[in-house]
Amino acid sequence: MSLEDNAIWASLPVPALLLDPEDRIEEINPAAEGFLNTSSRSIRGQNVWERVMINSPLEDAFNRARETASPLFVNDVDVGTGERAPLHCNLQIAPLSDRPGYMLFLISPRELAGRMTQDHSVKSAAKSAIGMAEMLAHEIKNPLAGITGAAQLLSMGLDAEDRELTDLIVAETRRVVKLLEQVEQFGNLTLPDLRPVNIHDVLDRARRSALLGFGASMKIIEDYDPSLPAAIGDPDQLLQVVLNLLKNAAQAAGKEGGTIRIHTYFEHSFRLRRADGGGRSLPLQIEIIDDGPGLPPDIADQIFDPFVSGRENGTGLGLALVSKIISDHEGWISVNSVPGHTVFRISLPMAPRARKTKKESS
Ligand SMILES: Nc1ncnc2c1ncn2[C@@H]1O[C@H](COP(=O)(O)OP(=O)(O)OP(=O)(O)O)[C@@H](O)[C@H]1O
Ligand SMILES: [Mg+2]
Repeated sequence: MSLEDNAIWASLPVPALLLDPEDRIEEINPAAEGFLNTSSRSIRGQNVWERVMINSPLEDAFNRARETASPLFVNDVDVGTGERAPLHCNLQIAPLSDRPGYMLFLISPRELAGRMTQDHSVKSAAKSAIGMAEMLAHEIKNPLAGITGAAQLLSMGLDAEDRELTDLIVAETRRVVKLLEQVEQFGNLTLPDLRPVNIHDVLDRARRSALLGFGASMKIIEDYDPSLPAAIGDPDQLLQVVLNLLKNAAQAAGKEGGTIRIHTYFEHSFRLRRADGGGRSLPLQIEIIDDGPGLPPDIADQIFDPFVSGRENGTGLGLALVSKIISDHEGWISVNSVPGHTVFRISLPMAPRARKTKKESS
């Protein structure tokens, strides 16, 4: 870089990263040093996706931008750095004209105020959609019971061929009732009963029940940090979260099965900024990693919204429930997905260390 270039680079008021063709960080400007809380020298050579975590899968778009040497703009994503609270940002990515494969990556944090109001409205929109659905669910269930009963009565006087039709009515109504019950369950979710929990106990329970049921064709690998301290959470709700994630991974893998890795680790510096300006430390990390096809690109940025599903017969409530539970825990969930590698990452607060009683310490 020439002196002139250097001055421009250094005065650029937004975090900027220069990436080599292998997505490694070649250089960062002073604004990015502040943003990532590191120095250009010590971060050089590291994979960018390990330092900059983004809550929506953009590897595909990013690779396309590199291949076609065209710029890419991504608005409204949450960018975490592992060091600090994820921030709401817009991204600008551009190929470097004189160095093929090199990309310039600009991260512009949006105003915090904007983020908060937006988050709030998303939440209440989801809430009213769910409230409405709950009411409907309740109203529809009663007549459905009548329809099932009537079809069963009718079927008694019918021959085998016609009975197929009444059986169909019964089976389909049952399916709808089940769906409605899921909607109701969503509305019934109470606030978590927070207490110290051993995450690995929860994960073991989830793993065992997955292997006995929906995950029978999956291989589930435990990759645990045995020294992980207790989290603060509601074990039953966290079990629900993990089950939903495992189930999605198993369903995405399909009949042939696949591998899920459950990875836990401690990340001391992970903090979440709260609406009131305070920070919350979320050092306990749980990753559910699968080698399935990855998120369907058309819904990838909405998967946490209720009623968004990429599956036939999916209600789209699984991840909405997951995200509600995690947010009630004041935790954080993010996803990174490319075909063959999908990572759901949950970050949770740590339980305050129990004070040792005299007996224990002696
Ligand atoms: N591990 C994954 N791999 C690929 N796609 C996934 C994965 N997890 C979720 N998805 C996609 O996200 C969509 C939304 O998931 P979500 O759990 O919210 O709903 P669902 O599984 O469709 O229905 P439900 O969980 O209510 O039965 C899924 O339909 C699927 O397309
Ligand atoms: Mg699901």
